[in-house]
Amino acid sequence: MKIMKDKFTPNIHFKAPFGWLNDPNGLVYANEQWHLLYQFHPMSNIWGPMHWGHAVSDDLVNWIHCPIAIAPDEQGAMFSGSGIIDKNNDSGLFDGPSDNNLVIFYTASLTQAEQDDFQTQCLAYSNDGGLSWTKYEHNPVIANPGLACYRDPKVLWVEESQSWVLLITHGQSIGIYKSTNLTHWELCSEFGESEGLHTSGPWECPDMYPLTAEDGMTKWILVVGIGDGCEASGSGTQYFVGDFDGETFINSNPSEKVLYLDNGRDYYATQSWFNAPDNKRVGISWMSNWRYARDTETQTFRSIMTLPREYSLVTNSHGDYVIAQSFASQVNEKFNQVSTLAESEVNVIQPPSSVYKLKGELDLSEEQTAEITLFGEDKPQVTIEYVNGEIMVSSARSYLGLNEILQKEFPHNYSFSQEHNTSSLDVELIVDNGSVELLVCGGRVSMTQLYFPEKPEGQVSLSHWQNVQFSPYSPQ
Ligand code: FRU
Repeated sequence: MKIMKDKFTPNIHFKAPFGWLNDPNGLVYANEQWHLLYQFHPMSNIWGPMHWGHAVSDDLVNWIHCPIAIAPDEQGAMFSGSGIIDKNNDSGLFDGPSDNNLVIFYTASLTQAEQDDFQTQCLAYSNDGGLSWTKYEHNPVIANPGLACYRDPKVLWVEESQSWVLLITHGQSIGIYKSTNLTHWELCSEFGESEGLHTSGPWECPDMYPLTAEDGMTKWILVVGIGDGCEASGSGTQYFVGDFDGETFINSNPSEKVLYLDNGRDYYATQSWFNAPDNKRVGISWMSNWRYARDTETQTFRSIMTLPREYSLVTNSHGDYVIAQSFASQVNEKFNQVSTLAESEVNVIQPPSSVYKLKGELDLSEEQTAEITLFGEDKPQVTIEYVNGEIMVSSARSYLGLNEILQKEFPHNYSFSQEHNTSSLDVELIVDNGSVELLVCGGRVSMTQLYFPEKPEGQVSLSHWQNVQFSPYSPQ
């Protein structure tokens, strides 16, 4: 067999240099660089003994690959986790205070033959900007209290309580711990047993941060991945809006309320960067779904990340606080050659390549359906309607290849609705060689999907769109 460049190699999305990738890990902005570490299996394009890959970027689009950060050891494989800067040397692991004191927290996971999914929380540190990492000699820093799914430590600094906080998934809830020295952790509370969505899938990869809305209100956001059983099928990401005092998270919504961070099928294990500049909350997700991640249509590598996004706190039409997403400003800058299209042109747009951005407005009467047809196909992948005060977005995806898992799990046809008090909506999407990230309504609706089309550079056709702006990717 001849090994060829993969047809679905992305242009602007992050991928590992080769091999398997899943969750983003250890996201830190340090020394004016974005560090992206990630679940990595360098020896195969299928999930296996997890390592942490590592890359850095100045602009969130162009990445420099670095040596593997951490590899499996006698404590287990290196499952997901997070990163921080121990600026004041609270841990005592460094020579003194410095912006270079990087610490990552990971789960060591022993599986099957050795011991059934026995998971403990560990740390490693670097004082050379992340080029090399030393595992802490007294790992684990948190022993397993007897829980089956006990993983994915997320560490944050909480200004109000002047303490480090660590979140871990406890089966289907989140354990909240605190510490002053990063090595001794005390369990303060648990959140979630009877809140939000619970399915057969475990809760995974928590994240938490405060966001301040334009009206000055600050809310804490708790993000949780759900391994399987989400509405769009398979893995998905839910979030809670609430209050946090450094020890306990209180949900501001009724416990049965389910908020999805994305309504597509390829947006999982979302994490945000520690110390992002300009007070922005910037995050990234794994662009796949455990239902078919091992079978996607590439060979030399498998899986990509979503584009980096910025998260903000806004209100919906009921006045409730929700998250709005936008593409990171650094990503938008790569699409700055904008042409405005006349209405007569939007039915047939021939992109110059397979990576481009589209922006437009919809003002839909009850009978009108806005359509987005991509890749020169004859049926729309996405339709948007405005019915009884709700936006309804429908997604249709097909798969024509030979892989049996993809034949079963990949095609779909579903809709979701969201209240919205006006029929005028803004829409934007970025297409990159088959992947599509769609934001509607000021980013209150997000839908992220993979496609494996015959012609990723095929023609685009839009109906009922106004003020359409087309931008090809302009690398700088
Ligand atoms: C989520 C996840 C994590 C785990 C990692 C293993 O996708 O299952 O809970 O740490 O992947 O690769």
